[in-house]
Amino acid sequence: MASLLLHLLPLAAMAAQDAFVGVNIGTAVTDMPDPTQVVALLKAQQIRHVRLYDADPAMLTALAGTGIRVTVSVPNQQLLAIGQSNATAANWVARNILTHVPATNITAISVGSEVLTTIPNAAPVLVSALQYIHAALTAARLDSHIKVSTAHSSSIILDSFPPSQAFFNRTWDPIMIPLLKFLQTTGSYLMLNVYPYYDYMQSHDAIPLDYALFRPLPPNKEAVDSNTLLHYTNVFDAVVDAAYFAMSYLNFTNIPIVVTESGWPSKGDSSDPDATLDNANTYNSNLIKHVLNNTGTPKHPGVAVSTYIYELYNEDARTGEVSEKNWGLFDSNGRPIYVLHLTGSGSMLANDTTNQTFCVAKDGADRKMLQAALDWACGPGKVDCSAMVQGAPCYEPDTVAAHASYAFDAYYYKMAMAEGTCDFKGVATITTTDPSHGKCIFPGSNGSNGTFINGTLLAPSSNSTSSVSALKSPDIVPPQLGSIRGV
Ligand SMILES: *[C@@H]1O[C@H](CO)[C@@H](O)[C@H](O)[C@H]1NC(C)=O
Ligand SMILES: *[C@@H]1O[C@H](CO)[C@@H](O)[C@H](O)[C@H]1NC(C)=O
Ligand SMILES: *[C@@H]1O[C@H](CO)[C@@H](O)[C@H](O)[C@H]1NC(C)=O
Ligand SMILES: *[C@@H]1O[C@H](CO)[C@@H](O)[C@H](O)[C@H]1NC(C)=O
Ligand SMILES: *[C@@H]1O[C@H](CO)[C@@H](O)[C@H](O)[C@H]1NC(C)=O
Ligand SMILES: *[C@@H]1O[C@H](CO)[C@@H](O)[C@H](O)[C@H]1NC(C)=O
Ligand SMILES: *[C@@H]1O[C@H](CO)[C@@H](O)[C@H](O)[C@H]1NC(C)=O
Ligand SMILES: *[C@@H]1O[C@H](CO)[C@@H](O)[C@H](O)[C@H]1NC(C)=O
Ligand SMILES: *[C@@H]1O[C@H](CO)[C@@H](O)[C@H](O)[C@H]1NC(C)=O
Ligand SMILES: *[C@@H]1O[C@H](CO)[C@@H](O)[C@H](O)[C@H]1NC(C)=O
Ligand SMILES: *[C@@H]1O[C@H](CO)[C@@H](O)[C@H](O)[C@H]1NC(C)=O
Repeated sequence: MASLLLHLLPLAAMAAQDAFVGVNIGTAVTDMPDPTQVVALLKAQQIRHVRLYDADPAMLTALAGTGIRVTVSVPNQQLLAIGQSNATAANWVARNILTHVPATNITAISVGSEVLTTIPNAAPVLVSALQYIHAALTAARLDSHIKVSTAHSSSIILDSFPPSQAFFNRTWDPIMIPLLKFLQTTGSYLMLNVYPYYDYMQSHDAIPLDYALFRPLPPNKEAVDSNTLLHYTNVFDAVVDAAYFAMSYLNFTNIPIVVTESGWPSKGDSSDPDATLDNANTYNSNLIKHVLNNTGTPKHPGVAVSTYIYELYNEDARTGEVSEKNWGLFDSNGRPIYVLHLTGSGSMLANDTTNQTFCVAKDGADRKMLQAALDWACGPGKVDCSAMVQGAPCYEPDTVAAHASYAFDAYYYKMAMAEGTCDFKGVATITTTDPSHGKCIFPGSNGSNGTFINGTLLAPSSNSTSSVSALKSPDIVPPQLGSIRGV
């Protein structure tokens, strides 16, 4: 019933849903980590959504019980068979889906990848392949939980600037119209691969690099759609809006978009001079901030455009240009290729020590207010304050201000540095100076338990009841003081 109603709602009604950022897992890696190692990396990086290019049983088994949401794919080479036989489709679902749900949270199936542009001979059976897969899910009562769609290259959209004039290559109308009807009636979404990198490369300098990288543009360089007067500050939004307009050109106005691939290569040869660490970092950092902010697009502000980054690992075993092998966020050892600049945008992939911030007591803050805030942090705030008990690394200097600083910073990281979590009624402040000293390592500092080192979690465990009760035990804290405090 819920999904029946959902597909009748206008897109704007979906604005309440939060966008997520996921990651694609390509496996053309010489030393491909085994599935348990992949899952360990995903957990350490707090990646909650992944897309696979197949339905690898070992990977799906490793993902069981993790709560990670998984989009699986029907590989292109299986598409013809599935699109020609509902029995083959039912078999595929039985073998690759039914054996893994509900332990593995499979939430979508991408039936083929860029079929229209890479294997056009299979295009005539694309819609029936989606329908057969969907029918098999319906028979298993999984159709409301698992969406069926197919990932498109954005090159099927023509005249994409200004976005209001965009339309799908008409060659594909006989496929796109029934496909969009299918997505609409099943409450699914359009899967779109969006690569501002290629748009920029192919534009021969017509597209400024800053515009592709989500960097601020001078107002006179901002792109304005003269039909709608909407302002575009980045290529990503323009391409997504072009897809909305192309759909509405065919009279489909309520199909959401999920970006199944987007990214930027961090290395290339002389033919890819802008495939650099800096640009890749800037693009992906800005993309993640943009998506997680639920900014939406100029055409549909606030409507979630969830996005899967391309990709988790550098695929060194791919053929082709150097840049082809360098889209990853990590090498096969799970070491980041670069450290994203994500301060303030939540906990995902936030291994950001290049622009590290800490939360400390304000200079000259009122001692009583600091004490009250410290008590709150170590009590109701559930911060692990065990590092400040006598004999522990952060006991010295034994002052209210020093202890409050540690507790404020621990709380700030526990809350993933979210806005407003470093205030404490005005006695706390954000600093970029690492307050760690001696063996007292503050959360967020290199070497601490705050940011993940060797794959430990970004945020300290929220299960700090044991340390709070330890602090309250009289042999550690003098009963007359009642709580941890300085002299
Ligand atoms: C599986 O994913 C769906 C969709 O995101 C979510 O609503 C559900 O709670 C998840 N289930 C589990 C067991 O994590
Ligand atoms: C396939 O389609 C035929 C004809 O529509 C139907 O009789 C049959 O039950 C279907 N098989 C499956 C496995 O859905
Ligand atoms: C539209 O798609 C057809 C079939 O792939 C292709 O031959 C044609 O070049 C495309 N048109 C444009 C303008 O890209
Ligand atoms: C879209 O709707 C308009 C108005 O109802 C109609 O004239 C047009 O033919 C429709 N276009 C398509 C592709 O169905
Ligand atoms: C976040 O979204 C708000 C509107 O909801 C917008 O004003 C703001 O510019 C966005 N910030 C970023 C960094 O995109
Ligand atoms: C660091 O963060 C601040 C505040 O969020 C921001 O203004 C600054 O540009 C960032 N610097 C770098 C190098 O990312
Ligand atoms: C922490 O990391 C930064 C950036 O990588 C580095 O410059 C700094 O030396 C490191 N500090 C320590 C104490 O390891
Ligand atoms: C990090 O936490 C673990 C377990 O909580 C602890 O054993 C370890 O000593 C801590 N390391 C640092 C550097 O604080
Ligand atoms: C961290 O990783 C390095 C290199 O992989 C390893 O030598 C070290 O033992 C690890 N430290 C911990 C605490 O796991
Ligand atoms: C980021 O985290 C990894 C562990 O996954 C660690 O090896 C690396 O040193 C961290 N980067 C920085 C700059 O701290
Ligand atoms: C928190 O700690 C308690 C007591 O050690 C334990 O029973 C509980 O399972 C823990 N909860 C989580 C979420 O780790």
